[in-house]
Amino acid sequence: MSGSGYGTVASVFAPGAVGAPVRLRGWVLRSRSSGGILFLLLRDRTGVVQVTGRKDALGPETFDAVEHVQVEGAVAVEGTVAEDPRAPGGREVRAARFTIIDPGAPFPIFADQTEEFRLDKRHLAIRSQDFVATFRLKAELLRAFREFLDAENVLEVTPPILSGNAAEGGAEAFRFDYFGRPAYLSQTAQLYLEALLFPHERVYSLTPSFRAEKSRTPRHLTEYQHLEVELAWCDLAGLLDFIERMVVYAAHALAERRPGELAQLGRPPAELAALAAPFPRITYAEAIDRLQAQGLPVRWGTDLATAEERALTVEATAPLFVTHFPRELKAFYMLRSESDPRTVDAADLLAPEGYGEIVGASCRETDLARLEERLAEAGADRRDYEWYLDLRRHGSVPHAGFGIGVERMLRWMLRREHIRETTPFPRTPSRHTP
Ligand code: 4AD
Ligand code: MG
Repeated sequence: MSGSGYGTVASVFAPGAVGAPVRLRGWVLRSRSSGGILFLLLRDRTGVVQVTGRKDALGPETFDAVEHVQVEGAVAVEGTVAEDPRAPGGREVRAARFTIIDPGAPFPIFADQTEEFRLDKRHLAIRSQDFVATFRLKAELLRAFREFLDAENVLEVTPPILSGNAAEGGAEAFRFDYFGRPAYLSQTAQLYLEALLFPHERVYSLTPSFRAEKSRTPRHLTEYQHLEVELAWCDLAGLLDFIERMVVYAAHALAERRPGELAQLGRPPAELAALAAPFPRITYAEAIDRLQAQGLPVRWGTDLATAEERALTVEATAPLFVTHFPRELKAFYMLRSESDPRTVDAADLLAPEGYGEIVGASCRETDLARLEERLAEAGADRRDYEWYLDLRRHGSVPHAGFGIGVERMLRWMLRREHIRETTPFPRTPSRHTP
């Protein structure tokens, strides 16, 4: 029992709990009564347990009041732990006393409602068991990433979210008025991470990124969690090695620490446990060959969109790196390849089973003149990037980095149909409430 005098649902299932008195508080998942006995499923942050109460033990008044507690009403209960093979987990709490904290209004969410309705009621829908599992796994994924980065001596830093620069391509930035001047919501922390790299060599940040894309797809959000890493003295081979070790570490952590939640969501933990480095790698040119062989209408220069990524990965069980994209397809800051001036040292990591891009990575251009040329080609206002160009004037060194879309990663790992299932309050072109 905690200092509050209340135990947790998990304590009911601890060894030696049978026969012991227990006090719990939480929310009613479901309840029914039959033949003078109440059956309710009580949920707290540690799990779900069956609570039974007999009319003769509780008294008719309490019995009646508890019978009228709604789904998601809040109660406290005192009772004794008993073995019962019919109860979930084989144990139940036999109630001697109930306190009704809030009987609740009828809960508006139940089976067979439209997705739109559920999104309108998202603030309540997030109480479902699948969302509970999802957000535990999300926290575990972020914990695992941080553990990995910490062990790799990568420093967590805090770049800004609002900025006078639109870093990743102005058209897709949310623009707003900042005391009479234009400002943007961050699409990437990368340019700031590059600045922070010089004093710290290895840095990362976890920030929201914003994309003003009107893409109504199962993998686009307008706001998502972006985990970005920037490493000094790193080339493309070193970068891919780092990314795959990080992804494997996180996948194994989920499989070991949250197998029940994974299985509940339809992802056998063994599938994540089986992931191993190295991941297969193909160049963009090889990807185009493969896609042409599959009959897709692509040629050198075609961007890999959802359909192409799907075709490359739908049969795969491991993620796939696609490297060396044509520079026209990629951002201005990417390093021109030594081997072929038409391409950049960049890679996208595509999740298997058709889920598509989950990581965008590249070596950064260190040559000032080339950067200036690429900015001009991109139609950017050079004055906005003066500070960034300064980084190439004062001890510029080879460096590389990547960004993980946390919800994209989860969508694959948790086998979710739609990316909005991986975030509590999804932001899409048609919705920014609740
Ligand atoms: O590939 P992107 O655009 O790369 C960057 O922003 C780099 N500056 C990152 C870096 O090198 N520091 O975005 C990185 C990742 C994508 O691979 C994808 O997983 C995710 O961010 N992402 C999105 N996730 C959800 N909704 C969207 N609209 C997303 N756009 C990108
Ligand atoms: Mg990308």
